[in-house]
Amino acid sequence: MNKWIGLLILFVVPAVAIAASTDPAPANVAQGRQIYQQYCAACHGKQAEGAANWKKPDEKGEMPAPPHDETGHTWRHSDAMLFKMIAKGWRHPFNKTDRLTMPAFEDALTT
Ligand code: HEC
Repeated sequence: MNKWIGLLILFVVPAVAIAASTDPAPANVAQGRQIYQQYCAACHGKQAEGAANWKKPDEKGEMPAPPHDETGHTWRHSDAMLFKMIAKGWRHPFNKTDRLTMPAFEDALTT
C-alpha cells in the first residue's frame, strides 16, 4: 500500500470519527426540528428559507425574517449572539418601528 494512503487512514479517519462524535445526539436534532416547526417556521419558513424579499424592508420599514440556511447571514453570528437574539428578541437597528420584529422566546423555550 502507498505510504500516504496508510498515513491518511491512520490520522484522518480517527480525526473524522472524533469530529463526528461531537455531533448533537439524533434525539436532540429531532426535538429541535419539532420546536422549529412549532415556533419559528411561520416566519422563517418551513425549510428555513426565510420570508420573500427578506433583504429589503417591508412597507412598514421593518426587515422581514431572514433565512437560516447558507443563503442568509445567521451562520455569521456567534452562538452567544444567536442565543441572545432568540431569548431576548431582536429588531434591526434601522427598522422604522420600535417593536421587536423577532419575538423573544425566553419564556416559551426555557423550563
Ligand atoms: C413573528 C415572526 C418570527 C418568528 C415566529 C420567529 N422569528 Fe426569528 N426573526 C424574525 C424577524 C423579522 C427577524 C429579523 C429581525 C431584524 O433583523 O430586524 C428574525 C431574526 C432572527 C434571527 C437573527 C438572524 C440573522 O441572520 O440575523 C434568528 C437567529 C432568529 N430570528 C431565530 C428564530 C428562532 C430560533 C425562532 C423560533 C424559536 C424564530 N426566530 C421565530 C421573525 C420571527
